[in-house]
Amino acid sequence: NWTMSEFIDKEIARIRAIVGEKGQVIGAVSGGVDSSVAAKLMHMAIGDRFHGILVDNGVMRHNECEQAKKMLVDKMGINLKIADASERFLGNLKGKTDPEEKRKIIGNTFIDVFEEEAKAIDDACAAHGVAPIEFLLQGTLYPDVIESISFKGPSVTIKTHHNVGGLKENMKLKLIEPLRELFKDEVRQLGKLLGMDDELVWRHPFPGPGIAIRILGEVTKEQVAIARKADYIYIEEIKKAGLYRQIAQAYAALLPVKAVGVKGDKRTYEQMICLRAVETSDFMTADWFPFPYEVLKRISSRICNEVEGVNRVVYDVSSKPPATIELE
Ligand code: XMP
Repeated sequence: NWTMSEFIDKEIARIRAIVGEKGQVIGAVSGGVDSSVAAKLMHMAIGDRFHGILVDNGVMRHNECEQAKKMLVDKMGINLKIADASERFLGNLKGKTDPEEKRKIIGNTFIDVFEEEAKAIDDACAAHGVAPIEFLLQGTLYPDVIESISFKGPSVTIKTHHNVGGLKENMKLKLIEPLRELFKDEVRQLGKLLGMDDELVWRHPFPGPGIAIRILGEVTKEQVAIARKADYIYIEEIKKAGLYRQIAQAYAALLPVKAVGVKGDKRTYEQMICLRAVETSDFMTADWFPFPYEVLKRISSRICNEVEGVNRVVYDVSSKPPATIELE
């Protein structure tokens, strides 16, 4: 029964009371709406004593890192360090094809990189006689809290998620979660109220392990380039058709199977792109999105013509369950 602007004031006051006059906070940001809103609140509360870390894991989308930087640094004024660890992630993923192993490698590499960045900030502080960082910001939402509680039972883990709680056990930092009582639509409202662009506020969710779980089999630089380009075209066409807000999540995946085709007067033997788009309210169950045929036609022809190494496009018509939204 509070309004969003009351929420902002209350939360800023709460953060200031926890962090104090001199305390410092660190937090990972991704360019997504949750971490951006959390970072913005933190920056409003304590300014540059908040240190944002953007880890480039090499499996983000086309231009995503640059866009995140533009928004977080240029527009929001956040004290941000970009850690380009793409080679390291891709190196660790080399030869790995098992979905859970890929997820664990990405999660663990992320934690390593983040901790190294935190240590570098602490070392720089120590050199200036400033106390080390004590707090960790996380953009955890209410549904994440619920899910991680219910996962603690003897239930089966379907997929390893790395967003909740992954960092706090290794680092002796106190957790601050300004969004832990909010649902996604409330975070969006908050983002709008804080002056964020519609583009960011309405962005589809994007998983931590990124494009790596949308490329079946081994993740290489070449495969990432193909998946990235196809995904970019797909999302661009969805936006042009005015369907982006109707769809809860959409992405193009790369299937490492080859089929025969013909381009110009040449026989080709190339990989396949699998398009996924779902409607859902809670992401626990989902339905595939009934695209108008003309839109699918345009997307398919652009991907086949513009993405080298691809000669077929298929559309995933599976609901969740029994499928999941991601492929891995
Ligand atoms: P699934 O594939 O389980 O996905 O039906 C449900 C929702 O969760 C997202 N997802 C993740 N998000 N880290 C994330 O931040 C992850 O490891 C992860 N795995 C899946 C997925 O994109 C969908 O929105």
